[in-house]
Amino acid sequence: MPSIRDFAAAKTNHRKLVVVTAYDAWSARLLADTSVDSLLVGDSAMMVMHGERDTLRATTELMAVHTAAVSRGAPGKLLIADFPFLAARKGASHAFDCAAQLLRAGAHAVKVEGIRGHADVIFRLVESGIPVMGHLGLQPQSVNALGGYAVQGREKIDAARVREDAAALEAAGAFAIVLECIPQKLAREITAALRIPTIGIGAGAGCDGQVLVLQDLLGLNPDFKPRFVRRFADGAALVRTGVTRYAEAVRAGKFPATKESFS
Ligand code: KIV
Repeated sequence: MPSIRDFAAAKTNHRKLVVVTAYDAWSARLLADTSVDSLLVGDSAMMVMHGERDTLRATTELMAVHTAAVSRGAPGKLLIADFPFLAARKGASHAFDCAAQLLRAGAHAVKVEGIRGHADVIFRLVESGIPVMGHLGLQPQSVNALGGYAVQGREKIDAARVREDAAALEAAGAFAIVLECIPQKLAREITAALRIPTIGIGAGAGCDGQVLVLQDLLGLNPDFKPRFVRRFADGAALVRTGVTRYAEAVRAGKFPATKESFS
């Protein structure tokens, strides 16, 4: 059974953790056959799958639908599901309901953005047997307060805040922390200071692991290419070529052929 213990062991053994997002059963089935350590049902689903401009419309119910689909596709992978916007800010009782829905949908752990103002909720989730992954640096659910999706922790005072929050998350019992869009030096320092693993996205190579959005790493999101994304395949070209060939074959009367038809 996949477990957060694998995350702890990876840090001890200096083995890099590989995490990728998944939102549906189809891609999860493909990812099930890869060596990735964990699938993250991120609330980035709102932007990637639903075309929203931010993640704020995610609800627990919608995250549970995506989580259940991914769980059906990749039952053998460690599944982490995002707490949606404000779900950790309405008290422990609401957080328990949210976690219950996500874990019943197939998640093994939840990810919660930030810690200031809801450290007690994170602590109580952990105490209740719900593994929590933290998320610091750029917190997309705070996009309106931040004024955009910019690198965080460049100023001394902001860097100190991220360091403090990381230590507080570890103290609250988080099993890992996503560090999003912070300077690589800061990410390296935090990684060295913590016993729990850090998972970077836009945080350089000094983290204990990396996470990327599947569609970004496959080049399926042609209009989105921030500095931290590397395209490991040209998925957009593959889709265009395949669909163009299909359309041409239909129009030329070459599809379906006799062997693709019933007698
Ligand atoms: O929602 C998400 O996909 C995330 C990752 C990008 C870390 O939080």
